[in-house]
Amino acid sequence: MGVEQEFSRAAARMLAHVENGTTDWAPEVRRVAVDDYINADRWQREMEEIFRRQPLMLALSIELPGPGAFKTLEVAGKPVLLTRAKDGVVRAFLNVCSHRQAVLAPAGCGHASRFTCPYHGWTYSADGKLMGVADRQKFGEVDTSELGLVQLPCAEQAGMIFASLTPDAAFDLEAFLAGFLPDLAWLGLEGWYHHCVHEIEGACWKVVTDGFVEGYHFAAAHPDTIHLSTMSNVMTYDFFGPHQRVGFPRHTIGEMRGTPEAEMYKQEGAYFGFVRFVFPNVAFSVAPTVGGTWTQIIPGATPQKTTAYQHIIFPKAPTTDEERAAYQSTADFYRTVVTTEDFELGFRIQKGLESGAFKNMVFGRNEWGNQHHHASIDRYICGPGK
Ligand code: FES
Repeated sequence: MGVEQEFSRAAARMLAHVENGTTDWAPEVRRVAVDDYINADRWQREMEEIFRRQPLMLALSIELPGPGAFKTLEVAGKPVLLTRAKDGVVRAFLNVCSHRQAVLAPAGCGHASRFTCPYHGWTYSADGKLMGVADRQKFGEVDTSELGLVQLPCAEQAGMIFASLTPDAAFDLEAFLAGFLPDLAWLGLEGWYHHCVHEIEGACWKVVTDGFVEGYHFAAAHPDTIHLSTMSNVMTYDFFGPHQRVGFPRHTIGEMRGTPEAEMYKQEGAYFGFVRFVFPNVAFSVAPTVGGTWTQIIPGATPQKTTAYQHIIFPKAPTTDEERAAYQSTADFYRTVVTTEDFELGFRIQKGLESGAFKNMVFGRNEWGNQHHHASIDRYICGPGK
């Protein structure tokens, strides 16, 4: 089945659910131990087995728009440098100087023809080679070919850049994405416009990810924002390995009645939307005609903390002041909703988890996306039997 057919089928399911008062749902209610959220050993295993070993979606291609572009970030204690060298190829490195291990490139995005270490001034090219040893005649003999940056497995696909944080980790992106790539490729992200990024502090990474894969909370948590446009507690779920696409009907979806099913995919954005969740920590809340957000949820230095990078993206760059102002107003809206509604609730959940009040979280049959996410995490850190 092609992706457009898949989208149409999901849209038809949403319409039927709205008419019947139903939703996609899991075979049963599932409990997840509170300890899974707060235990430091468990969190370390998640960092080791998932964040440091599996392919992570680290950037959009449009964040590294041409030769010389770079982006740095820190994930699971690993400083990472992404570069696009003169040959146009994106590479990932540990952002660490081979001399005395200082973090090399500064935080953020930019353009640089070479990277100069701030400590003693060694320089590296964008393809990771050590180009210059400062005051080399006094330093002594070294083989510079052995002192380049440590390269990480990396691939650019469908306008996204994936890398693994462990140099020798198995890196089979196609297998990891488990059939999800055609959906993501359909968005054509390589041609989009990156408007801005918001850095937002949050609670435990799983408390934060939980909020992206269900719409059960829309009516209570977002009564004056999301719920004005999108129905609460009606979801479709399609799973691809650990990844998922969650569908959410808008209040207008009834107007789609009479549309041939094969045409329904064209109404994404107008009558329904999807969150495309790329395991373990990236959520795209975008529609192909109107844009939206992609959010990268990066665990902090402890199990209780997360930094989320909420990127505001649109299918095309603004061409007028009015359009630019509209983009900014969309960006402000998303930042406010996520900060004051979702993440604020996340801190309250974190407090509840740590209070010892209950031993388990209870995920309803309607919260199938959450159930799937936690089962996927379990599979990576405990094996398929858990
Ligand atoms: S630590 Fe980088 S040049 Fe010395």
